[in-house]
Amino acid sequence: MKTVRTKIKALLENPEIGSDVNVKGWVRTKRGNKFLNFIALNDGSTINSLQIVVDMEKISEDILKDVTTGASISASGKIAESQGAGQSIEIQAESIEVLGVADPEAYPLQPKKHSFEFLREIAHLRPRTNTFGAVLRLRHAMSYAVHHFFNGKGFYYLHTPIITGSDAEGAGEMFRVTTLDPINPPLTEEGKVDYKQDFFEKETNLTVSGQLEGELGAMALSDIYTFGPTFRAENSNTTRHLAEFWMIEPEMAFYDLEDNMDLAEELLKYLVQYALDNCADDLAFLEKRLLDEEKSKPAIERSEMTLTEKLKLIVDSEFVRITYTEAFDILRNSKPNKKKKFQFPVDHWGTDLQSEHERYLVEKHFKKPVILTDYPSEIKSFYMRQNDDGKTVGAMDILFPGIGEMVGGSQREERLDKLLERMDDMGIPKDEMDWYLDTRRFGTAPHSGFGLGFERLMIFVTGMGNIRDVIPFPRTPGNAEY
Ligand code: 4AD
Ligand code: MG
Repeated sequence: MKTVRTKIKALLENPEIGSDVNVKGWVRTKRGNKFLNFIALNDGSTINSLQIVVDMEKISEDILKDVTTGASISASGKIAESQGAGQSIEIQAESIEVLGVADPEAYPLQPKKHSFEFLREIAHLRPRTNTFGAVLRLRHAMSYAVHHFFNGKGFYYLHTPIITGSDAEGAGEMFRVTTLDPINPPLTEEGKVDYKQDFFEKETNLTVSGQLEGELGAMALSDIYTFGPTFRAENSNTTRHLAEFWMIEPEMAFYDLEDNMDLAEELLKYLVQYALDNCADDLAFLEKRLLDEEKSKPAIERSEMTLTEKLKLIVDSEFVRITYTEAFDILRNSKPNKKKKFQFPVDHWGTDLQSEHERYLVEKHFKKPVILTDYPSEIKSFYMRQNDDGKTVGAMDILFPGIGEMVGGSQREERLDKLLERMDDMGIPKDEMDWYLDTRRFGTAPHSGFGLGFERLMIFVTGMGNIRDVIPFPRTPGNAEY
């Protein structure tokens, strides 16, 4: 009879002392003496490893010599209460089978601390570390919670395309999609690349945002969200930017800017609370990791709060809501601005806020999340609703401590004439956007939406310092190794 394998998470949650089980996983460590060996086995279902106790009279030395760090094994035996510290139960092995050896000379993951830079280079082993295991399980939990949240509110998940013919943000930072021969592309009479002969018979790119297609969904289903990968060919080598990242983008018919902010605040609080309620083991590990990291920093740079405290602060605080103009005044009169400590001085209304300014507002001035609204129209996208003052738009950005911009959104310009005017002003090609403009021609309605950067959320929830370390396969300028 085939033995049924039990996952370690299930076993630890509900152990039946004395029963026979089979577990499979990867060896973290093996230690012991000539009578007894102790194997720490991890199968990734939980951060906790299971202790396998090996009586050397029962298992041959020939098998045990291959039970080394990284090897995969199948172990069968009885569940017993553990005498040792740090675990409640253990398995007393009856039989062990080595499924895959890991040559100890060559295996690069040793039971010691490795730098995250080092780990980024060995993609296949990275998920086997405690830190990335915790991050990946939390990523799953947060994704699940996103769907749960929206489903509970009657939103429909809309699958917007990854290949698009339009630039949703109008920023021109797109990756081209083509099947044309890169060395000898067909040319038009004017000597330009003839995209009519390309696969889609036009220029196409990877999407920077699912919003525009999302708006079509909202104008039919009322409330939708997209949650998928987005791509930006911006050359930003920072700890907050990826070239491929995931975005959650709800779009709601009949929502004004305030409804939009209410929804975004509720979503963020829900997700953080979900992590606190459902991911305690992984968060406890990450909290300790962060404490260790903080200890290695000079005292003035150290955060005063633990990870759990930072998460609770989000759930418990009401986000500050101020306009760009109010924020501009705070920043212009701030100490660092007067003492010329900002790299980009805040001196004229209309200037774009840099991350140093955003972080001053949330970390020093308000000490909690801040929603900034009504930005100057010049620094925001064409689709944002124009305010009556003639110079600002109904935009909203949510700024988080330690992160900066977490969410970007707006009420949308639903008035066709205003939208066309703005597109002309900004040089957005209208002919390719007819499919979008039609929503304003036939049954247009006030509507709003926002985009939440999933990896920015993950940095916040896990306390990790670099966005490359909250996604399994990071893509950044110069990096698409595997
Ligand atoms: O502010 P952004 O560019 O807004 C949009 O794309 C809108 N179309 C969203 C909408 O209204 N539906 O991007 C939204 C969020 C940012 O606030 C940030 O969290 C994240 O996406 N983001 C990035 N995350 C990682 N790497 C990058 N290069 C990012 N660029 C934006
Ligand atoms: Mg933005």
